[in-house]
Amino acid sequence: MSRIEAKAVIGTNSWGGKAYGNVLRGSYVEDEVIKDAMREADKQGLFIYDLARDYGLGKAQKMFGEFAQENGGDSIIISAKYTPVSRYRKGCVRQSLEKDLAEFRRDYADIYWLHLPSYIEEHLAEFIELYNEGRIKNIGISNFDLDECRLAKKILDDAGIPLYGVQNHYSLISREWEKNGLLDWCRENHVSFWAWAVLEEGMLTDPRVRTKFSLMKLIMSRQKRKMRDLYRVMIAVAKRHDITVPQVAQSYCVNKGAVPVCGCRKPEQVRQLAEAAQVTLTQAEIQKLEEAADRSGARVMGHDLFRFAVPKKRKKNG
Ligand SMILES: NC(=O)c1ccc[n+]([C@@H]2O[C@H](COP(=O)([O-])OP(=O)(O)OC[C@H]3O[C@@H](n4cnc5c(N)ncnc54)[C@H](OP(=O)(O)O)[C@@H]3O)[C@@H](O)[C@H]2O)c1
Repeated sequence: MSRIEAKAVIGTNSWGGKAYGNVLRGSYVEDEVIKDAMREADKQGLFIYDLARDYGLGKAQKMFGEFAQENGGDSIIISAKYTPVSRYRKGCVRQSLEKDLAEFRRDYADIYWLHLPSYIEEHLAEFIELYNEGRIKNIGISNFDLDECRLAKKILDDAGIPLYGVQNHYSLISREWEKNGLLDWCRENHVSFWAWAVLEEGMLTDPRVRTKFSLMKLIMSRQKRKMRDLYRVMIAVAKRHDITVPQVAQSYCVNKGAVPVCGCRKPEQVRQLAEAAQVTLTQAEIQKLEEAADRSGARVMGHDLFRFAVPKKRKKNG
């Protein structure tokens, strides 16, 4: 199989049922709108969907499996994850993958990510088995720091399997992975770097556009007040390229060599993501955006977001 060259990826964490949409996401989106978004993705050449068992409180994968039958079918590239939530148990990855594949109505996952750096050796040994059986076509790791990435790569190298990618939190206001060398390491080792939450769940969108109240927005409001200067720079860059403010955040990631994984549930969001992936920002624009982001002092949970879920045993691996 040839290497999957991703330009942008459709995130499905915002898909889900009525209560989840209304309370957490500020609004519920009908299934028909999500299907239209999938048709738009097909039209725009965005074939990769990022999934995980817990997205949309467990609903997103089931919706995807059903909707993909009529919208994209086998041309869709499935990026899914094994999420270790407890102590390692032999066979846990296989069991989980079987359940995922039943939901996707597929025989294999194109990319399967180890969602957290827990029990790295044990979990990757199972990933390797499943790869050799053809049930996983590519192996990725998610929320790993640089030492953990090196360890994972060595385990896979020893098995003669390439590490496909690293999927970590990265955005204009969350750039730890660039500052501590992980992005460079990926580039040097031909490992894809996928950035999740490039819009910071809505924080890096246009402040002039009013949206409905949601729990997520309430959590963000304090940080958004610090970002007035950054928004000014984003608006100026958006004007210059005739694009929207969120497209600036998306194309920033692309221009830094990261693949944006963006939560899309409406056709317009898909269209904007595809378009943003084609925009070239100048070095001066990138510098201005970064300076304004650093000056804002906006803080989001970054590389440490999921650390609480990684058992102490991880230290032995690292
Ligand atoms: N590997 C991991 O550990 C991990 C963790 C979290 C997420 N992820 C992946 O990353 C994806 C993205 O994360 P996310 O969905 O939480 O956050 P996100 O992509 O940063 O933000 C999604 C929010 O942005 C809004 N949005 C999307 N496109 C927009 C546009 N063009 N203009 C204005 N607003 C726009 C959406 O609005 P609406 O509410 O109107 O739809 C939604 O509220 C997830 O879906 C998931 O696939 C991975």
